[in-house]
Amino acid sequence: METRGIILAGGSGTRLYPLTAAFSKQLQPVYDKPMIFYPLSTLMMAGIRDVLIISTPTDTPVFKKLLGDGQRYGITISYAVQDEPRGIADAFRVAKDFIGGSPVCLILGDNIFYGKLNFLRDAIKANTGATIFGYQVQDPQRYGVVEIDAQGNVVSIEEKPTSPRSSLAIPGLYIYNSEVVEIAASLAPGARGELEITDVHRVYHERRTLEVQMLGRGIAWLDTGTPESLLDASTFIHAIEKRQGLKIGCLEEVALHQGFLTSDEYRASVALLPSSSYKNYCESLYEER
Ligand code: DAU
Repeated sequence: METRGIILAGGSGTRLYPLTAAFSKQLQPVYDKPMIFYPLSTLMMAGIRDVLIISTPTDTPVFKKLLGDGQRYGITISYAVQDEPRGIADAFRVAKDFIGGSPVCLILGDNIFYGKLNFLRDAIKANTGATIFGYQVQDPQRYGVVEIDAQGNVVSIEEKPTSPRSSLAIPGLYIYNSEVVEIAASLAPGARGELEITDVHRVYHERRTLEVQMLGRGIAWLDTGTPESLLDASTFIHAIEKRQGLKIGCLEEVALHQGFLTSDEYRASVALLPSSSYKNYCESLYEER
């Protein structure tokens, strides 16, 4: 069965107040695109064509306005509302019908990845239970943290520990088989009153079907949680786009590259874009061909 994709793009976003007073974090600009373009492009580059976006009652219509039904990118985008931020694992309750019996890849709408994404395609193919990733960071206490032994087996998983047992953060990119629906349904809220993603991983670990894969330093995993890291993410995207003259997270380009759109469909999608440097860029791609 094809792996489906979920982007979790709700939450209160209070840490970025007042940026997030009127609209959500995942709609904020990261250099020249709304933030959600990056995680959506990550899913598309992994070959995923069926995506559910989960957001708040007020932001969901804005995401719909931004991305539509996905046809312009050769994919299917559907939407579901999370009426309260009940935790990341609540996504699997909201997405129960969407997941059905399929495997699923969840990406948090504020997580940006840059680099060769083969690791994700390979992990999706190889996944049997759950696959999470480990990424070396300087400040692991801000994230979910995984500790592994010399054989790469999970020793512990903790959410934002005050004394981290390793410097391996768990990025907001996870792959599951369809058991995740039943696992999420069985969870009780943790100390923060939320359904914790870490608890989902604990259950997979107990079932001995949790896999952790290391992401090397060749992959950039960018944070957008504070005004400063949001600016850093914009600066990073800007520096690379300026140097290469290529865009990161251009959804039309990814769709063309992935074969989700034929060249005719691509031209038709681009023709509908308003005059902008984004449109000029998209046009330059078919002129090159
Ligand atoms: O970014 C990676 C980290 O993301 C992981 O290392 C942590 O294990 C994981 O818990 C998460 O930590 P955060 O502190 O970033 O979690 P936060 O509560 O801010 O939620 C992450 C995103 O999910 C955020 O964009 C908002 C969205 N969200 C969150 C909750 C709790 C929702 O859409 N609904 C929710 O109920």
